Amino acid sequence: MAKKFFTLSIFPQFFDCFTSTGIVSQAIKKGLVEIHNINLRDFATDKHKTVDDVVYGGGPGMLLKPEPIFGAYESVIEKGHKPYVLITEPWGRRFDQKFAYELSQKDEILIICGRYEGVDERVKTIVNQEVSIGDFVLSGGEPAAVVIMDAVIRLIPGVVGDADSLRVDSFANQLLGYPNYTRPAEYKGMKVPDVLRSGNHELIKKWRRWKQIERTLQKRPDLLEKANLSEEDKFMLEAIKKGKNFGEIFKVP
Ligand code: ADE
Repeated sequence: MAKKFFTLSIFPQFFDCFTSTGIVSQAIKKGLVEIHNINLRDFATDKHKTVDDVVYGGGPGMLLKPEPIFGAYESVIEKGHKPYVLITEPWGRRFDQKFAYELSQKDEILIICGRYEGVDERVKTIVNQEVSIGDFVLSGGEPAAVVIMDAVIRLIPGVVGDADSLRVDSFANQLLGYPNYTRPAEYKGMKVPDVLRSGNHELIKKWRRWKQIERTLQKRPDLLEKANLSEEDKFMLEAIKKGKNFGEIFKVP
């Protein structure tokens, strides 16, 4: 059964490029994913199709009105869907790979795209989780919805090939990926590390692990604290911290 996404937005055309290119468009064509982008304006209840209004009690900006959001949500529910409901908010639960895995277990997800001024608070009664993609303020939730859908869609079995899933796994294992090279073997005086051209697969595996640990230590040491490290990983980490290089420790000829 296809995983279903519903977005509720005042700019549904924002998603056209996302749904019509690359892996996502292939996943839709393969019948693995459906994305329904619903225009809140279609559910406005007045003749001017108003979707926002001033704030009670005073204050700057406009808020998204409740009627179009409830109307759009109810139109989905009336068709028999039971989506898990997210709303994009800068103070929501931080979106990360673990959250993406959790969402990949849900059959149907509905994302209400907020605007930066905000949304009428009564909308929260239909929301399961507020979600943020980082500590910065977007002018609308549409880019956040794209980020969330992309990360979740690539976890659906059959959407990406094995090579890609390895990358996902490596992040889930809390270490950053190792560096990769393609041809030519030498470019502008920069050589591909000999070990990668040695044909020694055991040694290549160790080198890659070493580089993952080294890169994580340099760029995201916080991830190492939580990572599940083997005895050999710990040995490598200590060696890296002492400033050793791979060739010295593993006797690369
Ligand atoms: N809306 C405004 N800023 C946002 C953010 N950082 N994440 C999700 N939704 C938002």
